[in-house]
Amino acid sequence: MSFEIIILAAGQGVRMRSDLPKVLHQLGGRSLLEHVVTTAESLNPEKIYIVYGDKGELLQNKLAHINTEHKNIAWVLQPERLGTGHAVMQVLPKIADHADVLILYGDVPLIAKNTLQKLQQETPSDGIGMVTVHLDDPTGYGRILRDANRDIVNIIEQKDAKEVELQIKEINSGIYLTKGRILKNYLPRLEKHNTQNEYYLTDIIALAAKDDHAIISVTATTPKEVLGINDRMQLAKMERCYQLQNANKLMLEGVTLVDPTRFDLRGEISCKNDVIIDVNVIIQGKISIGKNSKIGANTILHNVTIGENVEIRANCVIEGAIIEDNCVIGPFARIRPETFIAEGARVGNFVEVKKTKIGKRSKAGHLTYLGDAIIGENVNVGAGTITCNYDGANKFQTIIEDNVFIGSNAALVAPVKIGKSATVGAGSTITADVPADKLTVARSKQITIENWQSPVKKNK
Ligand code: UD1
Ligand code: CA
Repeated sequence: MSFEIIILAAGQGVRMRSDLPKVLHQLGGRSLLEHVVTTAESLNPEKIYIVYGDKGELLQNKLAHINTEHKNIAWVLQPERLGTGHAVMQVLPKIADHADVLILYGDVPLIAKNTLQKLQQETPSDGIGMVTVHLDDPTGYGRILRDANRDIVNIIEQKDAKEVELQIKEINSGIYLTKGRILKNYLPRLEKHNTQNEYYLTDIIALAAKDDHAIISVTATTPKEVLGINDRMQLAKMERCYQLQNANKLMLEGVTLVDPTRFDLRGEISCKNDVIIDVNVIIQGKISIGKNSKIGANTILHNVTIGENVEIRANCVIEGAIIEDNCVIGPFARIRPETFIAEGARVGNFVEVKKTKIGKRSKAGHLTYLGDAIIGENVNVGAGTITCNYDGANKFQTIIEDNVFIGSNAALVAPVKIGKSATVGAGSTITADVPADKLTVARSKQITIENWQSPVKKNK
């Protein structure tokens, strides 16, 4: 039997007041639609149909990475926005009668896999299963109408509801599971006699109930799973809700979050025990952190691998780097892609590092730019040192061998190599390779003028 998923994503999202389709707005660094598609893929359907309105190309580009991974996504255009029932109707010709069809919404991003699995288990084979939930404030949602036997008989939209119906707290999440043939039977019979002048998908419930199809409901594990996003306030509220969920998961895994309400995960993180993350840390891409490491306040980590006992001090921006055990980074360090910092190294304040390998126990403590460099072990890079790696057209490499001492304010004009255990005098502009073991100084010699007299003003 085939299992197919339809994701409705054609709504204009008028209340977002945005040029961007609503489902492309971001939650935890991923689009709303990506959240839904990822959950859908986790159920292993044969096919996922995404119903879109305009800006199809933009949507497809933004989801391209998922599509290349799974290749089972089909895009279906709904040429006019005539309602949720009309949206599903666009996909019907592609759906087999015997197929199990799950309908999800692109603007309901947190629906959980286990709720949908429960729906799969409990939906009768010739019936309709729906996800519902009881909300203290059901405003805006369709209300579930039940008869005296507690059987579901209809769904009434907020805008069409009578005063007594508005008191109902059980709401329609908009998520249904049913057979292709049931959709094909009822969707063509929908009419738009309602305040919104739309074909409501919800109306199939009353039709199916009249024909005695079993209609069951499954309660979402938590109410937030079914919350829809219609405006930016709801988006912001859901962002905090989602982040708190991430924070709780991390804390249960043994991470200390100094303030879980000031933690933002916009990617994936894995941490060993006793990691401490201070306030306002933003995690992007893939991050892993070894045990006992500490991330200081206001730091941004993007695709970074961090070893054990590492201390990232406050206000660092680190992207595309590997940082080995026992390193100390920052405060105020900027580390850019393709950087490797070996065990026990130190990168201090106002140091920028790009595409550079820093060897074990080497230090660049202050105010330095290291770009396209290979630095050995136990090297000391003095304050203000610059690797001059760029001539305006091309980039060149600087090699600094083990045990080198670079004095403050040196300019190392690449390509250049500093030999093992060499010392470079402060203020040097190094344009040629520096031999090992010796002191090299490249600056004008200091002289003192004897018997020099300060000028005096002439008397008029
Ligand atoms: C819908 C349900 C309501 C439910 C709520 C849950 C209907 C009639 N109402 O209301 O019972 O409580 O969702 O969030 O179904 N869409 C299209 N094409 C259209 C119209 C909508 O693809 O022509 C898509 C939207 O992009 C969205 C979803 O369908 O992802 C829901 O549409 P929306 O207009 O937000 O419906 P609600 O008024 O929220
Ligand atoms: Ca909605």
